[in-house]
Amino acid sequence: MMYELLQKRRSYRKFTEQAVEQEKIDQLLHNALMSPSGKSINPWEMIVVTDKETQVKLAGCKPFGSAFVAEAPLSIVIIADTTKSDVWVEDCSIVAFNLQLSAEDMGLGSCWAQVRNRQSPTEGVSADQYVKELLNIPEHYAVECIMSIGYKGMERKPFNEDKLQFEKIHNNTF
Ligand SMILES: Cc1cc2nc3c(=O)[nH]c(=O)nc-3n(C[C@H](O)[C@H](O)[C@H](O)COP(=O)(O)O)c2cc1C
Repeated sequence: MMYELLQKRRSYRKFTEQAVEQEKIDQLLHNALMSPSGKSINPWEMIVVTDKETQVKLAGCKPFGSAFVAEAPLSIVIIADTTKSDVWVEDCSIVAFNLQLSAEDMGLGSCWAQVRNRQSPTEGVSADQYVKELLNIPEHYAVECIMSIGYKGMERKPFNEDKLQFEKIHNNTF
């Protein structure tokens, strides 16, 4: 049920060493490709990373907030051809959250590592440039984020619904 999925989905930054089965990877990608996009242009593409050495290098795309990428058995790098659509950020975000919900539905944990608008540890080099160079991504593409996925290696409480911000909901007018 969607409500239960949303309650359970939290960010998991620790994973067990168990590999994600190819069948599950295929289902995750199948689900991701069903994401809606503006004008149905589908400007996104995904790079599936399971190679340990590449995972470790990917984790180094930012000075903070991406260390967990090295631990995850699977990372899906979400990129877009920015020449195809002016709403590629929204389109990629939908893919990313679709992957998070799909992962949770399969009993897997996930965490988003932001790449767009972030800096790499090297002065003057963006995280986007770092990832593009590492994965041979053409220049006219942009990297939105890295979605790391794996079997949960930590416990998380479900979403705390006492903290729902109903004050942010406006009726009919602001
Ligand atoms: C757009 C976006 C960017 C995020 N970037 C990062 C990130 O770079 N590193 C990280 O550890 N978590 C990142 N997160 C995860 C958030 O920190 C997390 O979703 C938020 O704190 C809520 O916690 P929860 O997912 O456990 O419910 C990102 C989440 C979103 C939606």
